[in-house]
Amino acid sequence: MDWAAAEISALPGPVLEFGLGNGRTYDHLRSCMPGREIFVFDCQIAAHPDCVPDRRHLLLGDVRKTLFGALSRIGAQAALAHYDIGTGDKSYTAEVAAAVGSALAPLLACGALVVSSQMLVIPGSLEVPLPKGVAPSRYYIYRMGSPLL
Ligand SMILES: C[S@@+](CC[C@H](N)C(=O)[O-])C[C@H]1O[C@@H](n2cnc3c(N)ncnc32)[C@H](O)[C@@H]1O
Repeated sequence: MDWAAAEISALPGPVLEFGLGNGRTYDHLRSCMPGREIFVFDCQIAAHPDCVPDRRHLLLGDVRKTLFGALSRIGAQAALAHYDIGTGDKSYTAEVAAAVGSALAPLLACGALVVSSQMLVIPGSLEVPLPKGVAPSRYYIYRMGSPLL
């Protein structure tokens, strides 16, 4: 995430966190990009209250529904998205990733990065080689190549 934060440092726009979980990545994102708004998608709150965003920055519900209409709520295309939605159920996790990947592009600025724990198919994006030291399949990184709306 530090590598991605540096890569998008000159690109304006908020950050999207898909999957709050216990808030570990959210906490890291807000500490390494203190000037960025961060909008969080999750279907439940399980994090410590210190790691839960305020209501304006929390899109609570099934991401396959909250994703639609999210751009007007967020107000600008994102410079960075971190995607880590899922459960121990591989087929469910893949199903959600397929739905989100196909609908994500309008929320992303041209040049935005998506760092994902799941393989995604995002129209208009290209997969980016992983930074040195990141194990293959640990993450997938995509960059938006064209503005899509
Ligand atoms: C692996 S955890 C995220 C971990 C998080 N990155 C962290 O640092 O703690 C996956 C999250 O996906 C959420 N989730 C699963 N299915 C979802 C869905 N359909 N819509 C929204 N959130 C979902 C779960 O509630 C869970 O918080």
